[in-house]
Amino acid sequence: MHHFTYRDGELFCEDVAVSEIAAQFGTPLYIYSSATLERHYRVLSDAFAGQSCLIAYAMKANSNQAVLATLAKLGSGADVVSGGEMRRALAAGIPASRIVYSGVAKSKPDIQAALKAGIHQFNVESLPELHRLSEIASEGGHTASIAFRINPHVEAGGHANISTGGAEHKFGIAWHEAKSFYAQAADLPGIQIVGVDVHIGSQITDLTPMRLAFEKVVGLVREMRAEGLPISRIDLGGGLGIPYREGETPASPAEYASMIREVLGDLDVELILEPGRMIAGNAGIFVSRVEYIKERDDREFAILDAGMNDLMRPALYQAVHELRPVRMDPARSSRTYDVVGPICESTDRFAKGYSVPELREGELVAFMSAGAYGAVMSNQYNTRPLCAEVLVRGNQSALVRRVPTFEEIIASETVPEWLTS
Ligand code: LLP
Repeated sequence: MHHFTYRDGELFCEDVAVSEIAAQFGTPLYIYSSATLERHYRVLSDAFAGQSCLIAYAMKANSNQAVLATLAKLGSGADVVSGGEMRRALAAGIPASRIVYSGVAKSKPDIQAALKAGIHQFNVESLPELHRLSEIASEGGHTASIAFRINPHVEAGGHANISTGGAEHKFGIAWHEAKSFYAQAADLPGIQIVGVDVHIGSQITDLTPMRLAFEKVVGLVREMRAEGLPISRIDLGGGLGIPYREGETPASPAEYASMIREVLGDLDVELILEPGRMIAGNAGIFVSRVEYIKERDDREFAILDAGMNDLMRPALYQAVHELRPVRMDPARSSRTYDVVGPICESTDRFAKGYSVPELREGELVAFMSAGAYGAVMSNQYNTRPLCAEVLVRGNQSALVRRVPTFEEIIASETVPEWLTS
């Protein structure tokens, strides 16, 4: 469910016409709906009512300050994967007590900053990381609450590149080593064992692999508790998929929640969830203008002013984002295009042989479901400035990331003196 709808043939975000926003802020640009963000958060938190559950939004999906502030107001926590993300979360009003820190390569300064801030939990991914954490924590007089991220050897996810739970992936500690690692952690200074963590992949639309992984985790928790280890939390990661195209019906948040309740059974535990895409994915669209329609050989290219630098998912994962004209004209018949951008790379293609109502030069198009892993993964390749982001709430819209000027982009680089003298 989202709040991007047509009114009299014109695409709206909540109560604001997308064409008005584009006219005001230029294209390409991302537009987010507050109502959709809020709805997704609430659907999930309501589904876990009665269960102690921290929703630690995986802010890697969309870390714009305004998006984070919207979720912070609802009580959301954050799953961060870098010192930078932690700073963003704190700046947006997410308290440290609701921040969990994941990732395989936590640096010394980032660990120090997280300890100083007093975050809720470190999700530890290796023994060397555990030892580093223990050393830094005890040196600074801190105690780090930890969960080991277990690699359950269950693969899942919408694309091989976004699966994380297999033996060949860098993530987590081996399933069979878990108990020995926990035993080692129990003896280390500055470390307090609190939980077990798992995350097997992203855009998971069928719950079976999740259930398998979660059952393993619950079994492990029961065994470790029986051995006297104080496991009070389970972090089940993120990964719930969303519909990208009309008619797709991935597992719903309610089904996800009831599967988790079933797997937990009577286990009394604090739950942590790290949803990213499920919160932000369908809360955003990416709007672009058609620069040219080019006919060549037996194909037609719709060339947009947006490139793979702005929305990388099609180039990286062959993802297809539904493309809709911002102004729907019922008189136009459908045509088939290769939808491409301005970047000098053949991978700069959003869709091949894609059918949409006939497109014309200068008109606006919207890529749907672009709120997660869109703007955050953008870059300035071909010196195309990071594009604007706009947040809508009811009939209001606000620029929440402005486009840097070329002067700013160039000023961040320096020419060594030896070239200028
Ligand atoms: N927790 C951890 C430890 C993660 O690595 C991830 C995503 C999440 C939570 C959130 O997963 P979600 O609920 O969003 O599925 N760029 C890719 C997706 C990469 C996901 C990376 N990890 C894409 O555009 O599809």
